[in-house]
Amino acid sequence: MKQFSEISDIRKEIKALKSTGQSIAFVPTMGALHEGHLSLIRTAREHADEVVVSIYVNPEQFGPNEDFEDYPRQMEDDLKACEEEGVALVFTPNDEIMYGSGEKYFAINIEELNEHMDGASRPGFFEGIVLVVNKLFNIIEPDIAVFGQKDIQQFLILSQMVKEFNHDIELIAAPIARANDGLALSSRNAYLSDQERKIAPGLYRALQYVEKQIRGGVMEPKLLLNHQQDELEAKGFKNDYLNVFSMETMQPVQELEEGKQYILAGAVYLGKTRLIDNIILDL
Ligand code: PAJ
Repeated sequence: MKQFSEISDIRKEIKALKSTGQSIAFVPTMGALHEGHLSLIRTAREHADEVVVSIYVNPEQFGPNEDFEDYPRQMEDDLKACEEEGVALVFTPNDEIMYGSGEKYFAINIEELNEHMDGASRPGFFEGIVLVVNKLFNIIEPDIAVFGQKDIQQFLILSQMVKEFNHDIELIAAPIARANDGLALSSRNAYLSDQERKIAPGLYRALQYVEKQIRGGVMEPKLLLNHQQDELEAKGFKNDYLNVFSMETMQPVQELEEGKQYILAGAVYLGKTRLIDNIILDL
């Protein structure tokens, strides 16, 4: 496995791989790798000859009051994990390499797709993600890129970006990797106290309960969702959102229709930790 921080170095290696006819699958990450990231790497390996991983905590996708400084960084462990998974190349740029210090004259603007869910709670979040992934795609130029369903809004916005900006890259969504008690794995779970970790699976349980009711025929789930939010508050969570969203526009949906796909998604705070989770509803 080779690791590069400079764009020109990684480009040279990628060119060499491509010249021998190898296909490349790319897994962008912010490091602090866990089983969820590793499952993405395994999916990537199934779809291409070689896997490239990037590890970069992107400052552009953190708000001024968010956890950029505290975000877990463990480069040595991450590189070891990548090596064990048979990753060919790891790209580990720094801020100077990704953004330089010169004037910037262009900015990303997203319409509608970031109005709800995490886009509503985290202004500038998806613009920062689209910016960095666009740059990474231009640097790596993979055939395939793998993202987690855990961040479903990210996946759908990036799918639209690929379409509108004509990146010749196939995006694949990998299922959510969970702990035994159902909690979706996340680098941010490291922030949870023992007590918070015990109640954290409550978010997924609430989603599962709502899913069951919807599959049982509840097509206007608003009251049900409100009630689940009250229950979550009673357990010690602070609610951000819990709702059903359109798979195409990511707008909230009041009345569900059979034959359509929706995202049942929730975000909560436990102390200072923000947790998100979702279930795709194929009705
Ligand atoms: P990060 O949070 O490190 O996640 C990297 C990838 O791992 C994302 O595609 C995310 O959806 C996926 N992932 C995280 N937890 C997962 C889980 N429990 N199961 C399955 N997949 C999981 O997402 C980012 O970084 C950044 O926004 C990035 C795309 C790298 C741009 O900076």
